[in-house]
Amino acid sequence: MTVQLNGITRYGECEPRELLSDFIRHELGATGTHVGCEHGVCGACTVHVDGVASRACLMLAVQADGRCIDTVEGLATANALGDLQQAFRRHHALQCGFCTAGILMSCADYLQRVPDPTEAQVREMLSGHICRCTGYTPIVQAVLEVAALRGAQHDALEVSHA
Ligand code: FES
Ligand code: FES
Repeated sequence: MTVQLNGITRYGECEPRELLSDFIRHELGATGTHVGCEHGVCGACTVHVDGVASRACLMLAVQADGRCIDTVEGLATANALGDLQQAFRRHHALQCGFCTAGILMSCADYLQRVPDPTEAQVREMLSGHICRCTGYTPIVQAVLEVAALRGAQHDALEVSHA
């Protein structure tokens, strides 16, 4: 199997019945992706497949052959956390952190498609994830803050290019 993992070409072997979540963690060593329920309910294993948020426990690894896989490790640069990660830290949007990688990957995809969501939309998007610690409110606040900050940056760029 060959995949682009966070933009880097990676090779690995897998059994035909192996889940993508297990391949990412055990064969490629990207253990930021967590595995909870293994049947599509909790959202902990969410990664991007060709840019779209997907449950890695509901895909076979072989289905990802030749495709682009992005995981939570790809949200940060070598020197800094990504803006979503920073907002989660500011708002205390994680406690044990088990759900966090999956939630971050869903949020990253969602904000690409819906850059200015309402609180209700963010809550609906998060309904695909189970977090047992935070009560969700700080997560919602972090996502809305990132949307607002990105919107302000976008507006400032437009003014500077006008
Ligand atoms: S581990 Fe994939 S949805 Fe729970
Ligand atoms: S922070 Fe613990 S499950 Fe979400």
